[in-house]
Amino acid sequence: MNILLLGSGGRENALAWKMKQSHHCNNLFIAPGNAGTNLIGINVSIDVNDFESQKQFCIEKNIDIVVVGPEEPLVNGVFDYYKKDELLQHIIVVGPSAKAAQLEGSKAFSKQFMQTYKIPTATYAEFSVSEIEEAKKYIQQHSLPIVVKADGLAAGKGVIICETTEHAISVVEDMLIHKQFGKASDKVVVEEFLNGIELSVFALTNGKDYKIIGHAKDYKRVGEGDTGLNTGGMGCVSPVAFADEIFLQKVEETIIKPTISGLEKEELIYNGFVFFGLMNCNGTPYVIEYNCRLGDPETEVILPRLETDLVSLFAAMGNNTLADANIEFFEESFATIMAVSGGYPSTYKTNYIIHNLNNLKTEKDILIFHAGTKQNENGEIVTNGGRVLAVTAKGSSIKNAVEKSIHVLNSISFEGMYFRRDIGYEFK
Ligand code: AMP
Ligand code: GLY
Repeated sequence: MNILLLGSGGRENALAWKMKQSHHCNNLFIAPGNAGTNLIGINVSIDVNDFESQKQFCIEKNIDIVVVGPEEPLVNGVFDYYKKDELLQHIIVVGPSAKAAQLEGSKAFSKQFMQTYKIPTATYAEFSVSEIEEAKKYIQQHSLPIVVKADGLAAGKGVIICETTEHAISVVEDMLIHKQFGKASDKVVVEEFLNGIELSVFALTNGKDYKIIGHAKDYKRVGEGDTGLNTGGMGCVSPVAFADEIFLQKVEETIIKPTISGLEKEELIYNGFVFFGLMNCNGTPYVIEYNCRLGDPETEVILPRLETDLVSLFAAMGNNTLADANIEFFEESFATIMAVSGGYPSTYKTNYIIHNLNNLKTEKDILIFHAGTKQNENGEIVTNGGRVLAVTAKGSSIKNAVEKSIHVLNSISFEGMYFRRDIGYEFK
């Protein structure tokens, strides 16, 4: 099969790597990709939101599967675009319809969905600008801390955990009155703070059947000891010790099954990944958020741990045989650590040469996924983003995998490079 993968991060490098191993994978194209994906397939310079150009490309190259990496094209209706077009509708699109992608694209929509289908989540209320006084009253009567969320996509910056009532009120005013995130903060969700440990579980679904394809714990803060600003993710580990059979059983029964049957009841067309962002509160899982895609850097550990052929799973999703699919995992532990640009997640510079990458290509038990890289005019690989490389290692334990990843990272360098050395610290 010929595959077009949309996106350009570490997640897409991991997806490209995994799909390329399948004997079902014929030509693999990545739009727009990065310097790492170009080593696996062929990068094409088409924007993830440029559906017209994708159409021409898909026809020209006889594409059978389009895999959508990031959320933006999904929320913008990439699935619906392909399905409405006579020349494209035979293509398997891995990603939900725009309406179903509202599970990620609108916090108010996803909270309402969870409430309807009794899926455990933090108690909440939603407010628009005309309800600002009600919002203030709600906050004043609520226990602390309290969480304020912009309704729409806000590049990971739309969630604020507030320790004081005054802070929460000023955040709500910034979002609703001062339109801090433009349309994305036309509405806000104000919710209870959940105390626990986060974990992400990933499923592939056709809107009716589903298969769990992995789980991971992400380390979001930039600094060691979980300090400093929030990032897209500084590292991940899988499997996670507390996500044992009993816990995952609870996740399936109380969260995944009611979510999938809710999709069916609401007639939400969903063919793709569901990312369940969970909080483990004393052994009980709650949903913090849904995402309609894989995570980054979660993908960089869950796909190396997944033994099953991913392209076969996409085909099974497309022809409604997902229920019969067998999911196998490797027994080892996996860790990934992100090397980021100095200054990330605030301002940083790019175009620095990355040294020693070539020599590490064949390092045992190591996968180097590119996140923000490109090739310059001299053919050198240079930095091209905040998160630059994800170094994944396979080990006999999380501790062992983290040590192997750090060992490799110690021999890579670029100006200002930084990474956390304490990924997986709880599991040592
Ligand atoms: P979200 O964009 O909804 O994933 O939120 C970003 C991060 O904020 C999450 O990964 C959590 O660390 C934190 N967070 C969001 N909602 C809550 C909540 N109700 N209680 C505690 N932490 C939360
Ligand atoms: N690592 C978190 C995310 O992909 O949303």
